[in-house]
Amino acid sequence: MSADPGFFTVVDAQRACREFSDAPVPDALIDRVLDAATHAPSAENRQPWEFVVVRDPQRRARIGDLMRRAWEQHGREHSVGRLSPELFTAVDRGATGSISAAPVLVVAAADTTRCLPVTVPSSIFPALQNLLLAAGAVGLGSALTTIATAFADELRTVVGLPEAVIPVAVVPLGVPARPLGPPRREPFAAHTHRDHYGTPWTTP
Ligand SMILES: Cc1cc2nc3c(=O)[nH]c(=O)nc-3n(C[C@H](O)[C@H](O)[C@H](O)COP(=O)(O)O)c2cc1C
Repeated sequence: MSADPGFFTVVDAQRACREFSDAPVPDALIDRVLDAATHAPSAENRQPWEFVVVRDPQRRARIGDLMRRAWEQHGREHSVGRLSPELFTAVDRGATGSISAAPVLVVAAADTTRCLPVTVPSSIFPALQNLLLAAGAVGLGSALTTIATAFADELRTVVGLPEAVIPVAVVPLGVPARPLGPPRREPFAAHTHRDHYGTPWTTP
């Protein structure tokens, strides 16, 4: 495990990674990022998350297949013109094979017997954000993806989730195939207001 680069270095560098090298990902790194994930807040502290860590090539291929079909049937046409050309190309490549080629796919799910259905996204996404940041801290690339949940029942079948456990996202983990480049985020001050919406946040 590489030395911890520091919280703000990791946060400020966060990017989605959709192409991975063949370098192995030891279980110890998976342990570390999932432990970080489960330190997230959740409504009523119910901690409704369940994670299925998929290394098995056949299961990864089945997830890749349903990701591709979900993108082709529910995402691609809708995304033309909405995504920048660069992002469209990256998402297209990801959904048609480069994401499922990651050595590890984490299927993140919510156990609805442990939370109110209305809190599923709000109780799972903080854990996923922790997971993404922890992955960055240990030198792994990752991406939050939800397109495969368009075929939630198929995804559930591939990894054996019971009826009450709802798949929420698929997060690939692996060593990035190449450096991700600088993050593309607008400055926080462009969307921050002092006391009242419309009054710019300026720091004296
Ligand atoms: C709720 C959510 C769903 C997403 N679903 C997908 C997805 O299905 N496929 C994908 O390639 N990226 C997905 N993303 C990743 C976004 O495209 C990515 O975070 C955004 O474009 C910023 O990219 P960057 O980190 O490379 O700058 C998702 C992100 C979020 C927050």
